[in-house]
This record gives sequence, structure tokens and C-alpha cells, in this order.
Amino acid sequence: TRTQVGIVGAGPAGLMLSHLLSLNGIDSVVVDNRTRREIETTVRAGILEADSARLLVDTGVSDRVLRDGHPHEGIDLRFGGESHRVDFRALVGESVWLYPQTDVFVDLANARERDGGDVRFGVSDTSVDVNAPAIRFVDSDGVRQEVRCDLLVGADGSRSICRAEVPEALRMHSYREYPFAWFGIITEAARSAPELVYAHSPRGFALISQRTETHQRMYFQCAPETNADQWTDDRIWEELQSRVAGPDGFTLNEGPITEKTVLRFRSFVAEPMRHGKLLLAGDAAHTVPPTGAKGLNLALQDVRVLAEVIERALVKNDDDALDEYGPRALDRVWKAQHFSYWMTTMLHALPAATDFDVRRQLGELRSVVGSEAGSRFLAEGYTGCWPA
Ligand code: DHB
Repeated sequence: TRTQVGIVGAGPAGLMLSHLLSLNGIDSVVVDNRTRREIETTVRAGILEADSARLLVDTGVSDRVLRDGHPHEGIDLRFGGESHRVDFRALVGESVWLYPQTDVFVDLANARERDGGDVRFGVSDTSVDVNAPAIRFVDSDGVRQEVRCDLLVGADGSRSICRAEVPEALRMHSYREYPFAWFGIITEAARSAPELVYAHSPRGFALISQRTETHQRMYFQCAPETNADQWTDDRIWEELQSRVAGPDGFTLNEGPITEKTVLRFRSFVAEPMRHGKLLLAGDAAHTVPPTGAKGLNLALQDVRVLAEVIERALVKNDDDALDEYGPRALDRVWKAQHFSYWMTTMLHALPAATDFDVRRQLGELRSVVGSEAGSRFLAEGYTGCWPA
């Protein structure tokens, strides 16, 4: 097979890129080792920036986000047992959407199918050639395939095989590890609060998120080596309740826990995002800790820029266009890296924290909610509305 753009990874980054390219008359082939079902059933984050939602609607992927999603105009920061609302609408004039990443994936996969896009799920033995650009793989029928292309895009996630093709001498990997992980659950219960609650507590961080009228998503900070199977529902509820408890009597609505996973995470950026005819997008190029839900939003902004420069390179023969991709994408990547790191370190308990560390964190939280400048800084990061 021959195509213009070969894309490794059929998550939101790869599929959205393929969709945007097709709008400009550029054809692409997308391959992924996972089956469509595997991707659809992996629980991921749930918050879309307004710009991400607009991209789905305005480019004709789907308007389901407007019907099934829920606009959220703020969050609660909870510390010292009290909640403090950060009002995004009042501070930056934008809201965010509660809309699960798995639904974004379903919308994109359906749109590619509707528009006759070439997406191969469930392939194996994938490899890439960056010099004579090509993707080689065994398709889901067990047949060896080769897709030759003009440009190769690695949208293949945090364990990217494409990223490894950038020679070591030319690349810089920046990263930071965190001495904790998240224990994530889905519970069958009614909402506990109208908006998301990000809680700082002596026992560590907790996040009370939502999914639907009947199912909710919650997380609490845990040790990285935690085994989710060893935790009973009772023990999970005790932990979550203790982290949000306070004099206002706030408690979580409990229900059966239908999913438990421990999520390890880190901050990571691979630069440059381009090497010759290879371009990296989304988690393949950068991952963020989950606090603030920036990962999917960053992936979508990458491919928005990437689709534009690829069109100039392939259709208008503008040879310099591809040079713009990394620098333009990285401006926002590093702002989001800072935001995710900041939210994470402000809200989590460090295993070796001293009294000073904890009291300083509480001082920071009071500064953020007590000052319009502080709250606006958080609101700009959370909504992705950074001044240009
Ligand atoms: C969700 C995850 C996040 O990391 C976050 O900051 C907000 C919401 C979620 O899964 O709902």
C-alpha cells in the first residue's frame, strides 16, 4: 500500500490527525496493535478543554459531546476540610466539558469509518522505517503488510516505538518521576457534588470526578507498588471518605465499585518532535501526570498544528513548514507540563514531607483561592486558555 501519511497509533491523536488530513484531501493509513474493543474499554480521563470540544464539533467528527457531555464552569479545591470554588467562567470566560476520552475515541473511530478512512486495528509486529518512510506490520488476518508513505507520524503513546527512531545524539528526554500513583475506581452511585473536587488532606490527595447520573469516577493517591486487587470496597471507601471529610460534613455517595486500577505516571517530554520525515504527537512526545487532565487536550492541540503544517508541506510544497511543528506545539506542551506538575505537587502528600512542606502547601492553596490572580492562573491552565 502507498499513502501520503502513515500514522502509528489509532488513539485520539492518530485518528484526529487522519480526520483533519482527510478534510484537506490528504490520505493516510492508521495502524494500532490494540483492537478497537481494547481501546474502547480502557478507562481514561474525562475532561475536555472547550477548544478540544469545539475541534470535535467544528470539524464534523461528532456533536455528541454537546448532547452527552456536561459543561463544568469550575472546580472545588478542598483543603483543611473546606471546599473553595474556582469559577472558570468568571475568571477566564470559559468552561470545560466532562466527556470521557473513550467517548472521544468512539466518536473519532466512527467518523473515520463513516468517511471511508483506512484504520487497521489489532495489528502486530509493527515496525517503522524512517529513512524510506514505511510502516510494516502483520494485519489482523495474519498477513504481512507494508505501507509506504511520504511522512510518518508516531502517535503511538507513552511507550512509542517511533520515538526510539530519533537518534540518541540528536534528542533530549526530560522527565520527572513522582513517588506516588493514583488508585482509580468507577462506582455505581449518584454524584457526590455538582462539580469535580480536588482534595488535599493529611492522608493524601483525592479527586472526586463523575461519569454519568449513575456512575462516578474517583481517584486517591496511593503508593506506586499498590496492588488494586488487595483492596476491598470497604477499605477503598474508608480511604476516600477520610480524605474529603471536614467540618462541613461533606461525604461521598457510596455504591458498588465496578472497576479498580492503579495508575503510575510521570512527566516526560521528548525533543525534538520531528526527525526528518518522522513526526511525534501526543503521549509519544510527552506525557503529563493526570492531575488537571491535560493529556488528551495536548494530543489534540499537537495534531491540530501538525495537520496544518503537513498540508503546507505536501499540498503547497512548503518545505519549511514541518520545521514549525515542534516549536509551535512545545510552547503549549511546556505550559501544560508546568500546570500538571504544579497541580500535582500542590495537592499530593510527599512520602517524606515535613511539617514545613505541608504547611507551605496549605499556604500555597490559600494564596491560590484567596487571590483573583492566583485563581485566574489556575483557571487559565485548567481550561487551557493561556494568553497567546
Ligand atoms: C478525570 C481525571 C483527571 O485526571 C482529572 O484531572 C479530572 C477528571 C476523570 O477521569 O474524570
